[in-house]
Amino acid sequence: MTSRDRVRTPLSAAAMEPDEGGRYGVYGGRYAPETLMAPLEELSRAWDRLRRKRAFQRRLRHLLEHYVGRPTPLYFAERLTEHLGGARIYLKREDLLHTGAHKINNALGQVLLAKEMGKTRIIAETGAGQHGVATATAAALLGLDCVVYMGEEDMRRQRLNVYRMQLLGAEVAAVDAGSRTLKDAINEAFRDWVASFADTHYVLGTVTGPEPYPRMVRQFHSVIGSEARRQLKRQTGAADPDVAIACVGGGSNAMGLFSAFLDRPDVLLVGVEAGGRGPDLGDHAARFSGGTLGVLHGARTLVLQDEEGQVVGTHSVSGRARLPGRRSRACVPARSGADRVHLGHGP
Ligand SMILES: Cc1ncc(COP(=O)(O)O)c(C=O)c1O
Repeated sequence: MTSRDRVRTPLSAAAMEPDEGGRYGVYGGRYAPETLMAPLEELSRAWDRLRRKRAFQRRLRHLLEHYVGRPTPLYFAERLTEHLGGARIYLKREDLLHTGAHKINNALGQVLLAKEMGKTRIIAETGAGQHGVATATAAALLGLDCVVYMGEEDMRRQRLNVYRMQLLGAEVAAVDAGSRTLKDAINEAFRDWVASFADTHYVLGTVTGPEPYPRMVRQFHSVIGSEARRQLKRQTGAADPDVAIACVGGGSNAMGLFSAFLDRPDVLLVGVEAGGRGPDLGDHAARFSGGTLGVLHGARTLVLQDEEGQVVGTHSVSGRARLPGRRSRACVPARSGADRVHLGHGP
């Protein structure tokens, strides 16, 4: 491995910061029950202290390189480029990371943070199971107990990932409330945390939730964008791509990629949401086009809700794209706009 291939500190990428209340314009903030204000403040302080600490950065960098498998390749998709006949297409291969998705960047970072904070127990939510598997893996690596909340419907659909989490020593707690999917699993995890924060850290799996989660999760994933930019330069000589495209479930891989280009107005940032069966409320998981401002899971965000403010169900073949609210717009301050969010039509 040459020095050019080494993992750069994932915490150094320039990123736009929210105001002191964790707000990104009208989005974000901290809308949490009284009892969670103290642990959220504790987490904020710990994160702000540790992200600047050399030893913490070194440890994370070491694990990302030697355990997780960073840097991931930037692959020139020659045949896809030929087939589509236009742009030269490069794929950032986050799927090649240990456990098979970008989720481990954030899960490992947060579990390391929790360990530094003296926590002994980890909780997490999962939809498709990828975040649950990543968190169970990080907890096993660092020797912490782990409970993963998962909707019963998602458990049925993603049985293999349930088994994987159990093999890693995690308890998978079935959630039978509401639609028995991801949003209900997040509610249950918050409920657990209210009673357990003294020894427990909640590893939230995407750029959602109350401050400091969105900026912290974004920062753990910013390594995707900083690597991709460097690799593109090396492979093509171009300083920037014309377009950066990412799928948006909760928004974490998108924000990880976009964070490298937030200050580059010439780079078009495109998030692709699940168009589901069609444009009617309940038939898709596209919050940018179908969502309205509301408060969900501790933050002000675009929510798929009815006229009475009731959160409606979503549809997507992917359990992971099912969150009815998320923070991407909040986390792309001044660079966001519906023109940059496209619906992925199909099931
Ligand atoms: C492989 C993979 N890609 C993308 C996503 C979407 O999540 P996010 O929008 O938070 O990156 C998920 C979520 O579970 C995932 O597992």
